[in-house]
Amino acid sequence: MAKEFIFGVAVSGENFIGREKEIHRLSSNFKNGINTILSSPRRWGKTSLIKKVKAIVESDKLRVIYVDIFPCRSEYDFYNMFAEAVLKQTSSRFDEWKDIAYEFISRLTPKFAFSVGPDSDYSVSLGITSKTHSAEEVLQLPERIAQKKGIQIVICIDEFQQIGEFPDSVIVQKKMRSAWQHNSRVSYCLLGSRKHLMDELFQKRSLPFYKFGDIINLKLIPTEVWVPYICKQFKKVDRVISEELAAEICRIVENHSSYVQQLAWLTLLETEKVATREGVARALNELLDENTPLFTQQTELLTTYQMNFLRAILAGIHKEFGIATVLSEYNLGSSSNISRLRKSMVEKELVEFRQEGYFIADPILKIWLERQKW
Ligand SMILES: Nc1ncnc2c1ncn2[C@@H]1O[C@H](COP(=O)(O)OP(=O)(O)O)[C@@H](O)[C@H]1O
Ligand SMILES: [Mg+2]
Repeated sequence: MAKEFIFGVAVSGENFIGREKEIHRLSSNFKNGINTILSSPRRWGKTSLIKKVKAIVESDKLRVIYVDIFPCRSEYDFYNMFAEAVLKQTSSRFDEWKDIAYEFISRLTPKFAFSVGPDSDYSVSLGITSKTHSAEEVLQLPERIAQKKGIQIVICIDEFQQIGEFPDSVIVQKKMRSAWQHNSRVSYCLLGSRKHLMDELFQKRSLPFYKFGDIINLKLIPTEVWVPYICKQFKKVDRVISEELAAEICRIVENHSSYVQQLAWLTLLETEKVATREGVARALNELLDENTPLFTQQTELLTTYQMNFLRAILAGIHKEFGIATVLSEYNLGSSSNISRLRKSMVEKELVEFRQEGYFIADPILKIWLERQKW
């Protein structure tokens, strides 16, 4: 049986809601070969959105390749994953895949191994190294395949911010940018979940990916889109939740996509027939309990100043931390301490910079902190 609410993994089908504008913009970018950068905090819905767009735009003439490079730690880790994704996802059958692999990456034959698993998925080891292949030829692989097959390709690279952590990152970025900008049949959609790292990669004039493409900062799904979905999913299993209470769920988790689904799910479990405020409160407690080990780990090594900085934000201070009254009331040290504090908290992803100032990034962490005895 399909679960009424899904969280933590990319969603599709009836569990995917809203995003009409983004679907339209991405589809048109994909069809027109426009490079795109899609960024948002994690678990807001990037991967789900890209998979949705892929399903919509794919055709005989347009292939959308998806690769998550989260595990990559170095340039050649990346080339292996990249080449494997491109080879696999441009072929419909294993035989074809194998032939293309030999044709395009034949020099690695000695190391080139593949095996077919029980679920008929096959695993491969291309064994691309700096000794066997230049960066350039691996990066040009999609364009060559696209030309040979007479198709357009869009390559979606998820968790792209990892690139920024590679050794010699800027040199690697330069190679990518210069290889990709001359592609005529291949375009890129680069996804990332760590905003400060993504901004660094794409908005710094001195870095290679500056002005690479259309930048989309994914927004949250609005309450009016969530409410009918939550009510409908309750109804499917003969329970009822009022629109007010469904909206309350969104408010509690500040519309954070994954948390909305999770809190709705936990509330459903607490509901015999009609959802109640008490049920939502119990569900929230469970969500907090579940996250306690993680939040403890994230906060236990913070310095006193860092904790005090969080405390100031919780008290409603979002900017001008450096003024004398704030510094002394929250014990933040000297005003020269503030920029260091802000930077370290953003890097730890506990705090996020929004238009109006600095906020606790995770809405459940925020509630958890509020409930701690300081
Ligand atoms: N369009 C959507 N409709 C409904 N729920 C969504 C949607 N996008 C994201 N979610 C919720 O957020 C969770 C995380 O989505 P995901 O696409 O993996 O985010 P990201 O790639 O940004 O980390 C999903 O498991 C789901 O609970
Ligand atoms: Mg994702």
